[in-house]
Amino acid sequence: MLTLDYTFMLDDAVPGGVGTADWIAAQSAFAAAQASAEARRRSGELGFFDLPSNTALLEQVEGFVTRTRGRFRDVVLLGIGGSALGPIALRNALRPPQWNLLDETSRGGWPRLHVLDNVDPSTIAAILMRVDLRETLFLVISKSGGTAETMAQYLIVRARLLEAGLPLTGHLVFVTDPSKGALRPIANAEGIPALDIPPNVGGRFSVLSPVGLLPAALTGINVAAVLRGAGALERRCATTDLARNPAGAFAVLQWLADTKRGKPIHVLMPYSDPLRDIALWFVQLWAESLGKVLPGGGHVGPTPVPALGATDQHSQVQLFMEGPLDKTVTFLAVDESPNDLTIPHLHQDVPDLAYLGGHTLAELLNTERRATAGALASRGRPSCTISLPRVDAENLGELLMLFEIATAYAGALYGINAFDQPGVELGKLYTYGIMGRPGFGESRKEFEALPQPSPDRRA
Ligand code: PA5
Repeated sequence: MLTLDYTFMLDDAVPGGVGTADWIAAQSAFAAAQASAEARRRSGELGFFDLPSNTALLEQVEGFVTRTRGRFRDVVLLGIGGSALGPIALRNALRPPQWNLLDETSRGGWPRLHVLDNVDPSTIAAILMRVDLRETLFLVISKSGGTAETMAQYLIVRARLLEAGLPLTGHLVFVTDPSKGALRPIANAEGIPALDIPPNVGGRFSVLSPVGLLPAALTGINVAAVLRGAGALERRCATTDLARNPAGAFAVLQWLADTKRGKPIHVLMPYSDPLRDIALWFVQLWAESLGKVLPGGGHVGPTPVPALGATDQHSQVQLFMEGPLDKTVTFLAVDESPNDLTIPHLHQDVPDLAYLGGHTLAELLNTERRATAGALASRGRPSCTISLPRVDAENLGELLMLFEIATAYAGALYGINAFDQPGVELGKLYTYGIMGRPGFGESRKEFEALPQPSPDRRA
């Protein structure tokens, strides 16, 4: 079971932290935020809460994996935003990069998983050159079923499969809304298998739907265990008692640090390579959900920053220690590391290195994390630590659900809707206009009326 230690977030331990009185007073604001999230959940608006108990979706995923087991050497995911960051976080936690380098037998016959989450031609071309299309499955993941980047990737892959004389039905699977968007009718018309993203589950809250579960299960990850962990965390959050609700405590402390202590920058710093991409997934969740215009005008939104311990101790930590007093740091700690390595003693006595010998690498990593938290505290800079007993499917499920529920609470605390993203629309409309999509001529004109880059201002 994961734990959240917030000792260093409060001003009785760390002078720049959240006021203890504010923390106690926030209980009633939290109860209201929790009630609002629960009400939206009961009304059927927030589907992510219920994904852990959605056995029908799990059966879709497991059924597909069973039917295709042994047929593919490579799985290539086409998706972006919430349709890629969750799958990447799960893969890199439970199937870290070195796993793709193992031979098939050492991978237990499971395929490699590649995630294409951009339209940079250099990456797409390289993957298409590397895989053997005859032994490759392409997952096209898009909630809306119409995202330009994913659709462009899909059209390229589709053409390549047809050129190679391969059946689309055997090499493509869609994960999309059950009825909306462009992918579903294509699936229906062409017999391409398609798994569902429930209509009430938004992109960045979809990691526990087939969006995250299908790519994970295709590489042998125990997705039932991921859901079990997520469900356990969701049940822990069924209380309005702030001190016993880990997602509530996280959300309220970050919100108070931002709104009462001038700390709008929220760093997430795993001390664990497998958890590195959880920070990138969290960045999207926190930023796209909470960066909003308030209903009455004005702007809110903390800025999430990803970091990695111990690597960033030699980079961003200087800024965290001596830069502006505008940050909180959340550490992710892992208690047990499999394959830990003991640092050997040198046979000759070198005093500067002697202290390392006999300790393990995991011990060094965890000591550095504690030392960094202590150093920040000594300078009045608040932090908290989320600890996982180990990186496994169940604990990952807990962690993902903690941040999703915390985001729902934070949205209510800030007074905004955490589940839309109107701010990303305008750039999309301009792109459609410039690329010549019918019906977007006005957007093109609006774009062309903007100040354009001037040759006089080129250095
Ligand atoms: O959180 C969101 O809704 C977005 O970031 C989406 O995940 C992203 O835009 C991709 O959308 P889609 O899954 O519809 O292709």
